[in-house]
Amino acid sequence: MRDEFPLVSEILHLNHAGVGPWPRRTVEAVTRFAAENAHRGSLRYPDWLAAEQRLRERLARLINAAPSDIALVKSTSEALSIIAHGLHWRPGDNIVGITQEFPSNRIVWESLASQGVTLRQLDIDRSAQPEDDLLTLCDENTRLVAVSSVQYARGLRLDLARLGTSCRARGIRLCIDAIQSLGAFPFDLRVVGADFVVADGHKWMLGPEGLALLYVSPALREELELRQFGWHMVAERGQFERRDWRPAPDATRFECGSPNMLGVHALEASLSLLDEVGIDQVAAAIGERVARLIELTDRHGFELLSPRSAPLRAGIVTFRVPDRDQQALYQALMGSGVLCAQRGAGIRFSPHFHTSEETIEQAMTLTAALAHQL
Ligand SMILES: Cc1ncc(COP(=O)(O)O)c(C=O)c1O
Repeated sequence: MRDEFPLVSEILHLNHAGVGPWPRRTVEAVTRFAAENAHRGSLRYPDWLAAEQRLRERLARLINAAPSDIALVKSTSEALSIIAHGLHWRPGDNIVGITQEFPSNRIVWESLASQGVTLRQLDIDRSAQPEDDLLTLCDENTRLVAVSSVQYARGLRLDLARLGTSCRARGIRLCIDAIQSLGAFPFDLRVVGADFVVADGHKWMLGPEGLALLYVSPALREELELRQFGWHMVAERGQFERRDWRPAPDATRFECGSPNMLGVHALEASLSLLDEVGIDQVAAAIGERVARLIELTDRHGFELLSPRSAPLRAGIVTFRVPDRDQQALYQALMGSGVLCAQRGAGIRFSPHFHTSEETIEQAMTLTAALAHQL
C-alpha cells in the first residue's frame, strides 16, 4: 500500500474523518484526464460517461442499491438540502436527530423552522442506548429521524439496522448521513432500510471534495419536490429541440446540470482501490488500527473520549491528555506533521486501512512527548 499512498515521510496522516489522502491511481486518473482535456478536448466524451456510469455502479455496490438510484451531487450538505426542501412538511411536524451532530446535519433541519417544523435532539452523551432513545423522542408528529451513521467528533457508531427496523415499524422515515462510514465499513440498504443515504467522497472513500452520493428510495423519488432544474435532469436529456419535458425517472432527476467530470474520474479511481481490497478487509484493518490506538491511549494515560466497546467504534479515536491545553497540543501535533483534528473536546485520530503500524506508534509517541513539553 506504500506504493498506492505516496505520503511524504514527514506526514503522519490520521485525518480520514477530515479529508482523506488520494491514492496514486487517483492522481494518475486526474493527470490523464487533465492531459486529455488539453490535447483532445472532449472528443472522447462517451468514455467520460462510461467512467460516470462505473462510478454510479461502485457507489451503488457500496450501499447495495441499484446504480439508477444513485444521484451524484456536490456535497453531503447539498444532498441533505435536496431532501429537506423536497419533502412536503406540515406545520407541527418534527424531525428527530442528535445534539452532537456535525452542523450540516442540524442546520438543514433547522432551516425548516419557517415551515413550522421543529428539530428534537438526543444528547448522546447522556444516552446508554441511542437507537432506542431516539425512538423515545419520536411522537405522532415525527416524520423523519436524521442521523449520521458515525458521529464525527468522537466516532460513536449507531446500530443502523436496529434504528431502521424501529423507524419502519412506526412509519417514520430515516435519513442517514454516511460520510463517516462509507468507504470504511460495509453498508447494506437491504438491512438498514434507510429512505435516504448521503455521503461525500473526500473522507473514507479517498476521493476529492465536491462529489457526493445521494440515494433516495425509489418509492419516495416522485414524492420529493424538485428545487433545481436544467437540461440534465430531464427524461428527454440530449433532445435539445424538444419543448416538453418531465423529470428523469431515475435518480439523475436530482442532477440539474453538467456533471463534475474531474471529480468523477478521481472518485471512480479511488473506489476502484477499495473495491480491489474489499470493504470487509478494509473494515477489519481499520478495526485493528483503532484497537491499537485505544491500547496506546490507555498506556500513555490519556483519556479516551471515543466508545471503548468494539461494536460502538468506527474509524475515529478521540482522546484528551489530562491537564493539558488540547488546542496547544493540536497545534503542536500539526506543527510536527501529525495530520489530525481537534474535535469533541480532544484530539481526533482517524486511521484508514492503509495506515501503517509505524504511523500509529510514532503519532502516539510524539503526542506523549509534545504533551510533556507543554
Ligand atoms: C457527519 C458529517 N456530515 C457532513 C459533513 C460535511 O460534508 P460536506 O462538506 O460534503 O457537505 C461532514 C464533514 O466533516 C461530516 O462529518
